[in-house]
Amino acid sequence: MKPYTHFEFSGRFLKNYDRFNHLASMGLDRRWRRVTAGRAAAYYQQRGWNAPVLDLACGTGDMAAAIHQVLQAVVIGSDPSAEMLDLAADKKKRCGWSRFHPVRAVSRLPLADASVGAVTCAFGVRNFVRLQQDMDECRRVLQPGGRIYLLDFYKPQNRFSHGVLQIYKKIIAPAVGALITGQAKPYRYLMESMYAFRTPQAMMEVLTVSGLQAVDIHPFFFGLVHLVVAEKKIYSPQGETT
Ligand SMILES: C[S@@+](CC[C@H](N)C(=O)[O-])C[C@H]1O[C@@H](n2cnc3c(N)ncnc32)[C@H](O)[C@@H]1O
Repeated sequence: MKPYTHFEFSGRFLKNYDRFNHLASMGLDRRWRRVTAGRAAAYYQQRGWNAPVLDLACGTGDMAAAIHQVLQAVVIGSDPSAEMLDLAADKKKRCGWSRFHPVRAVSRLPLADASVGAVTCAFGVRNFVRLQQDMDECRRVLQPGGRIYLLDFYKPQNRFSHGVLQIYKKIIAPAVGALITGQAKPYRYLMESMYAFRTPQAMMEVLTVSGLQAVDIHPFFFGLVHLVVAEKKIYSPQGETT
């Protein structure tokens, strides 16, 4: 299956995108983003950092908002979709997210080397068509010791999560989608993209190929969603890594 690109997010689907997410996950998506933001904030506090955070595939800004709530740092949100960024800019104004800066970026990020302390990405990475190059780019912009947090529905790994996802894909997502927008197809397609994507372990391998060090794979909701965390190594003058 071809990756789900931003070109397919349009019209009524876009306008109702946040409502769909919250309804279809029974509000759990908010909690998963909060936990991710909390992990990043705890690490920042431990290190005494205030470097900017990059939120990749920021969409309408929900992950960036979760970071904004727990960290005083600037949050740069990048996304290739101008429509998503317009919605993010509206929400920024309405909600007063003064340190959130949404920018349009397709491949190379408009950021200097080693300029951010954390990269977050919620429910976006499985859309990336140039995954390895995009992760190389994340490594480039991360400062040494900085971490990447990738929250997503990865490919199901066991029969239970596979079974639950089947119900979700065939019944819940199209039904909730049809209820909200009168369209079931984009939502069914969105679910399909999980099966075309990688397991959390395979995602970690992509990160290690980009030169990042594995930190943790954290499952949520019986393993339906995972948070994959990796770190940019710090090189000492002796050539050792920490
Ligand atoms: C499911 S939304 C996630 C939005 C937000 N992070 C959240 O937590 O709700 C996926 C986002 O990925 C973006 N996207 C699609 N293809 C992409 C790509 N190849 N590279 C970067 N972002 C992409 C879309 O424009 C969309 O905003």
